Amino acid sequence: MTEHRLIERMLAQVRKTLAQIEITQKVNPLFIDTAVDFIRTYADRTHHGKEEDILFRDLAKKELSEADRRVMNELLSEHAFGRTTTKELVDANTRYRSGDDFALADIVAKLGTLVDFYPRHIDKEDKAFFPASRAYFSDQEDQAMLAEFREFDQKMIHEKYRSVVETLEHN
Ligand SMILES: [Fe+2]
Ligand SMILES: [Fe+2]
Repeated sequence: MTEHRLIERMLAQVRKTLAQIEITQKVNPLFIDTAVDFIRTYADRTHHGKEEDILFRDLAKKELSEADRRVMNELLSEHAFGRTTTKELVDANTRYRSGDDFALADIVAKLGTLVDFYPRHIDKEDKAFFPASRAYFSDQEDQAMLAEFREFDQKMIHEKYRSVVETLEHN
């Protein structure tokens, strides 16, 4: 939930940018690069990573109520939808940089999709799914999961910059 708060602050910046685009009819592609890096490294790899690889993995071993299992599957497909939308945003930004006149409309559409769907995803987790999932775990299991979250986070900065170097090496 703490991580959701930072994601919301980024979404507020995206909303601000959308309002500016409407006035100026242009976008700074570097803002899109920054937003994409935040979404991919923080929101997806670090945050969804902990949800999918640890929380959802452990929940899948429990006898979930039908409603909880349905919501977990919805959340998973929303993560996948976020990835696809981000990829489309990257493609639109590449076309924008190369002077494609139609790319700005696509950038606006993809940013609009992200600021619309992501708060609803967060809300579903904060208000319904996370509170419900607590009931399936003992205190001991809770603590084990928290320890694994911390370990997971520790790897992130190393993974990120290894990938930065590897990308440079392969270009
Ligand atoms: Fe999520
Ligand atoms: Fe989340």
